[in-house]
Amino acid sequence: MDEKTTIEIVTEWDIVAARQLGRNEAKAIGFDTVDQARITTAISELARNIYLYAHSGEITIEIIEREGKKGIAVTACDKGPGIDNVRNVLDDGYTTSGGIGAGLPGVKRLMDTLDIQTSVGEGTLIRVEKWL
Ligand SMILES: Nc1ncnc2c1ncn2[C@@H]1O[C@H](COP(=O)(O)OP(=O)(O)O)[C@@H](O)[C@H]1O
Ligand SMILES: [Mg+2]
Repeated sequence: MDEKTTIEIVTEWDIVAARQLGRNEAKAIGFDTVDQARITTAISELARNIYLYAHSGEITIEIIEREGKKGIAVTACDKGPGIDNVRNVLDDGYTTSGGIGAGLPGVKRLMDTLDIQTSVGEGTLIRVEKWL
């Protein structure tokens, strides 16, 4: 299976749509309700960062498979300002807005892997994965 859906993030409603899609996909491949909540919280945080800091971008949700194991990958991509102090953003306490997911350190805890590529003035690409 190689399923991939992209949602443009422009308004706050798009954040809701991305959450919904993530929940449906997570449920469909067998994540329990607790993991579904973890995944939707991570999607919210990533989509909200796009909305707040880059104004627009994309969330891609993908069903992934490796060595017979299934999982979900969420990629947040924008052409916004980029993250200047990227070394600090995964430290607890660095986040400013106090959402329920506790920012990027929270996203890292909720998911199995987190990868950030960012360049000031060019944009940000963050990919997270969670495996069943
Ligand atoms: N997509 C993004 N584009 C530019 N800057 C970002 C992006 N995502 C996060 N940041 C920067 O990283 C910081 C930390 O993000 P985060 O951990 O989500 O905490 P918070 O959003 O609560 O400040 C933000 O304050 C912002 O400066
Ligand atoms: Mg945030």
